Amino acid sequence: MDGTPDVFGSPYRLLSAVVVPRPIAWVSSRGPRGENLAPFSFFNVVAIDPPVVMFAPVGVGDDRKDTPENVLATEAFVVNVVTDDLVEAMNETAATLGPDESEFERAGVTAVDATAVDAPRVAEAHVSLECTLYDSMEVGGSTLVFGEVVHAHVDDDLLVDGKVDVTRLDATGRLAGGYYATTRDRFHLERPP
Ligand SMILES: Cc1cc2nc3c(=O)[nH]c(=O)nc-3n(C[C@H](O)[C@H](O)[C@H](O)COP(=O)(O)O)c2cc1C
Repeated sequence: MDGTPDVFGSPYRLLSAVVVPRPIAWVSSRGPRGENLAPFSFFNVVAIDPPVVMFAPVGVGDDRKDTPENVLATEAFVVNVVTDDLVEAMNETAATLGPDESEFERAGVTAVDATAVDAPRVAEAHVSLECTLYDSMEVGGSTLVFGEVVHAHVDDDLLVDGKVDVTRLDATGRLAGGYYATTRDRFHLERPP
């Protein structure tokens, strides 16, 4: 079968099922109603100099989700890396909560102040990237949020000789719908010269 993306259900159904596995930014931010935490799998690193990451919440203008709304106001956010031990807590924070409910409480994780930016971070996360707003732009119905990583927290036991050893980080990836992937099934490939 081939055709336009709509033929496969919808562009979302097609792209979310074939651009896999996607890393998950578990984004913490601060807003007028308190501290906020939500996952976004339309997420990646987009530049190294300066170090910039990007996530893409659906919604623009008055329809923006709380996370981009907070980030555009405070110019700060934290990307907490989702690992196997935190995946259920992460999932809880995708729920739509009332204005007085806390995603941190619902997920059973602890908000602590970030070191360098005006946002909370997840104390239980093994890696947290503190970001200042680098830029934002609308692409159709989504708001792309770019953040410059200005400070990082990494658990000591992920480090070998002062560098992160990827085989010690059980990062979780998103597939489609309720399916996720671990990064435990690894193999090594030499790059050609
Ligand atoms: C694993 C996972 C990944 C998600 N990725 C996205 C995404 O990339 N973009 C998006 O708009 N919503 C995404 N969502 C849904 C948001 O997390 C959800 O709408 C959340 O309630 C937004 O919270 P906020 O309004 O506090 O910002 C995802 C949900 C899950 C569980």
